[in-house]
Amino acid sequence: MVDKHIPDNTLLYLDNVTVSFDGFKALNNLSFLINQCELRAIIGPNGAGKSTMMDVITGKTRPDTGEVLFNQGSTRLSGGSIDLTRQDEAEVANLGIGRKFQKPSVIESLTVWENLELALKGRRSPFESIFKALSKEGFKKIEKTLSRIRLQDRRDFAGASLSHGQKQWLEIGMLLLQDPELLLIDEPAAGMTDEETFRTADLLRELSEERSVVVVEHDMAFIKALDCKVMVLHEGSVLAEGSLDHVQQNQKVIDVYLGR
Ligand SMILES: Nc1ncnc2c1ncn2[C@@H]1O[C@H](COP(=O)(O)OP(=O)(O)O)[C@@H](O)[C@H]1O
Ligand SMILES: [Mg+2]
Repeated sequence: MVDKHIPDNTLLYLDNVTVSFDGFKALNNLSFLINQCELRAIIGPNGAGKSTMMDVITGKTRPDTGEVLFNQGSTRLSGGSIDLTRQDEAEVANLGIGRKFQKPSVIESLTVWENLELALKGRRSPFESIFKALSKEGFKKIEKTLSRIRLQDRRDFAGASLSHGQKQWLEIGMLLLQDPELLLIDEPAAGMTDEETFRTADLLRELSEERSVVVVEHDMAFIKALDCKVMVLHEGSVLAEGSLDHVQQNQKVIDVYLGR
């Protein structure tokens, strides 16, 4: 627990975070805040440090310098924050930070419902836990999640039968069952149809009503549909931030990213 005072509605706080790989700074004095129930889009050229930033938040990579604080619900009450640089990946997940990688980890031979059931019960022993009875609350929670991720009519279909977009939604649903306060999502729209892309933007906007969502993407139509604050990363720091219109007019952003 850290005593440092950060604004009350801040959920995630990064200050002067630097990560070097063999002297190359993948993150270079990166600082930003994410508010509670904020939806934030992050864009930037390949190599800008977007994935490294997520690695630092999730305890996968330790920064050389800088602070990464998480103002989790229970600690907000006591006025302290959690220093994420001192947690490992499992601890960060347990604190309520869910991360979705590009490649879905849905189990193809199980149905949509079974995948959600597993995510709810924990993955320690999949084949044992799938036969353990589900509580009434658990059942309701899965039903609510199914409708959230728009897969009610696919509940008894095998994971393998889902489209790429539906697999991504299922994976988001699996994360939601852990009740994260912060969801980190890397390039969800890649490989989706236009319709799936817009439905995903709607889904993430809905989800941010109850938790913060940070999404990295290159698809500008998707970013526009998210209709949220955009942050442009370049060479490991924030190059610009604001509305999409605002950053699209920034000459530096055009030079390093949009104009390419
Ligand atoms: N484990 C690593 N070892 C060495 N260099 C790395 C490592 N991870 C990332 N990098 C380098 O750090 C920079 C930022 O990478 P990354 O965070 O993946 O960028 P982005 O996700 O924005 O494309 C890149 O130049 C990449 O080659
Ligand atoms: Mg990346």
